[in-house]
Amino acid sequence: MKVVFKIYRFNPKIDLEPHFDVFNVEVEPTDRILDCLNKIRWTMDSSLSFRMSCAHGICGSDGLTINGQAALACQKLVKDFDYSQEIVVEPLRYFDVVKDLIVDLEPFFKRIKSINAQRIPTALIVGDAEKERVQNLEERSEFDDALKCILCGCCYSACPVITEQDSDFVGPAAILRAHRYIFDSRTTDVTERLAVMQKPHGIWGCKSYYMCTVVCPKKIKVTQAILRTKKKIILEQQPKSE
Ligand code: SF4
Ligand code: SF4
Ligand code: FES
Repeated sequence: MKVVFKIYRFNPKIDLEPHFDVFNVEVEPTDRILDCLNKIRWTMDSSLSFRMSCAHGICGSDGLTINGQAALACQKLVKDFDYSQEIVVEPLRYFDVVKDLIVDLEPFFKRIKSINAQRIPTALIVGDAEKERVQNLEERSEFDDALKCILCGCCYSACPVITEQDSDFVGPAAILRAHRYIFDSRTTDVTERLAVMQKPHGIWGCKSYYMCTVVCPKKIKVTQAILRTKKKIILEQQPKSE
């Protein structure tokens, strides 16, 4: 069957403005959107640029906006969309476009690194190298979900705080990464890590819109992790009873 793909194009070397190109592609309903993009690149227009690597939802390279929602192109099938209509493929929102569907993810990785901006020593890394730090299954389950993050950037592209209110907001994936350490029973610097979260443009910018959770391709309960971290901050600030 033929499906129409409307694809965002922008080549800064020759284009003054972005535009859309339309491709009529022979595909199967079970084809992944990534397969369709590859088919276009291999058989119709070799100049079409997009990122991909693993093609199996592991590397986080192919986050795109597909019919208005952030998603991995390798996880979405043609039949996930109303393919009687055109399927619109655009770059991840919020990020600057490098070329066509490729965006500059540097601001995203900067935020992830910013949660460690003070170079807080972590018992996981520093600590006593001779000593085994035992953790039981229950303790491990406290941050298991956060370990699934593949740093795809989809949550940043979907978060209304980042896209509409505060473009410097540290953002969901960075808070999730902080949560991963804060709730790890082996971490010794929890108070310092909670303090980093409270810096300007930090955790309190999150308004619980849940869009990060909706789009996360690894189905991580991102908003829940953010709310747990906020609760931990509030509990830490309460005077400790003797
Ligand atoms: S829950 Fe917070 S981080 Fe997630 S989309 Fe909403 S405002 Fe952004
Ligand atoms: S939290 Fe989910 S959407 Fe955000 S970067 Fe990680 S995997 Fe991607
Ligand atoms: S190509 Fe690696 S996650 Fe899609």
